[in-house]
Amino acid sequence: MAQLWGGRFTKETDKLVYQFNASISFDQRFFKQDIEGSLAHVRMLGKQQIITTKEMEDIIEGLQGIQQDVENGSLQITDEYEDIHSFVEANLIDRIGDAGKKLHTGRSRNDQVALDMRLYTRGEVLEVRELIKHLLTTILSIMEQNLDTYMPGFTHLQKAQPVTLAHHFGAYFEMFKRDSQRLHDIYKRMNYCPLGAGALAGTTYPLDRDYTAELLQFYGPTLNSMDSVSDRDYLIEFLSALSTIMMHLSRFSEEIIIWNSNEYRFVEIDDAFSTGSSIMPQKKNPDIAELVRGKTGRVYGALVSLLTTMKGIPLAYNKDMQEDKELTFDAFDTAKGCLHLIDGMLATMKFRKEVMEKSAMMGFTNATDAADYLVGKGVPFRDAHSIIGRLVLYCIDKNSSIDALSLDELKTISPVFEQDVYDAISLETCVSKRLTVGAPGQEAMQKVIALEKDFLANYDK
Ligand code: ARG
Repeated sequence: MAQLWGGRFTKETDKLVYQFNASISFDQRFFKQDIEGSLAHVRMLGKQQIITTKEMEDIIEGLQGIQQDVENGSLQITDEYEDIHSFVEANLIDRIGDAGKKLHTGRSRNDQVALDMRLYTRGEVLEVRELIKHLLTTILSIMEQNLDTYMPGFTHLQKAQPVTLAHHFGAYFEMFKRDSQRLHDIYKRMNYCPLGAGALAGTTYPLDRDYTAELLQFYGPTLNSMDSVSDRDYLIEFLSALSTIMMHLSRFSEEIIIWNSNEYRFVEIDDAFSTGSSIMPQKKNPDIAELVRGKTGRVYGALVSLLTTMKGIPLAYNKDMQEDKELTFDAFDTAKGCLHLIDGMLATMKFRKEVMEKSAMMGFTNATDAADYLVGKGVPFRDAHSIIGRLVLYCIDKNSSIDALSLDELKTISPVFEQDVYDAISLETCVSKRLTVGAPGQEAMQKVIALEKDFLANYDK
């Protein structure tokens, strides 16, 4: 048990207490960020002449050596240290002697851990944004190839009006676009450096906080030292954004599961993204989509857990905050994995265009347009609605679609029908006439696709 704070204590820590308190099993994840932060801190201490240039150089060399040795496997991070900060400092002192004891001058583990977690999370925000960009690119290419792939649009999971696959996927494009914008906002708000806040009240050393912030590519230092060591809002915001991403992925998964079912058969998930059954040889299950739907709960759990942890904590640092890590890391991993897998599943999925189109035809998705056709011939809308209602009943009885009836049959329902009705209620017409911004008509969709492309081209601005 290697501790940094033995001086005031007369007894050894109980073993269970030690284990309960220790965080090295999970905070070793930000080992690199811990070194990065220490390098910036020590460069600043040197620049401010709080330590000598020689001491600064020795510490830098020592820290870089530790990083190399851990990365090449010759130095193991073990649980004989309480946390990753203790591991690095103890190893530094072993390596370079007394100069190593000066690393922690003007710093506390409270601002150190706040910095490490922020650096690590900042990287994750960028990674998630990149994964979303890739997913958006996949969705957009499916949209471009399916402007004329007709399918039913649903309300209440009942066939409603015809749309296209491009339009349906366009809805998800919008959702994930907002998700990526949310991450962009979070990044801008969180990118301030807590280093130099000390335990809670700053320090008496002449630290240059602007300099460390600049070295670590933050916009600047945080402005209140008590807030700096006890703010975890940015994690809550990120977990909330991840929860929304998972909610979107889960809805998408749910649709794919329905579309892949034996009843719908709109899509076929590639073998590489499906699994079989140990007993039923005919089965090809959409397990990946189901797992994504299922894992959503885990990410929500991390958000609710951290909100609950934070709600009763007085200023400034309290050990409760160590609980900001494990579930959060799990949420990062889960969301990234899900984004990656859904992307791969979509890119390899087969769309059964004929089945989708037939489903749109047989589902009376053109009933509204049929009513509008009668309105165009002078029938008041309420009467037209009722005529088409009777027509639908007739079709259900005959197991037919509206367009498959002969003109004579149509005329028995209403004499207003003419030959031009077939063209007016074809799926092509129903869709292509819907041209308001955001509607599925091809011309309207082309304009939206151009805007979405623009969005992707300027993604990092
Ligand atoms: N492991 C701790 C955490 O994750 C590091 C900070 C420890 N600070 C302290 N005053 N005990 O929060």
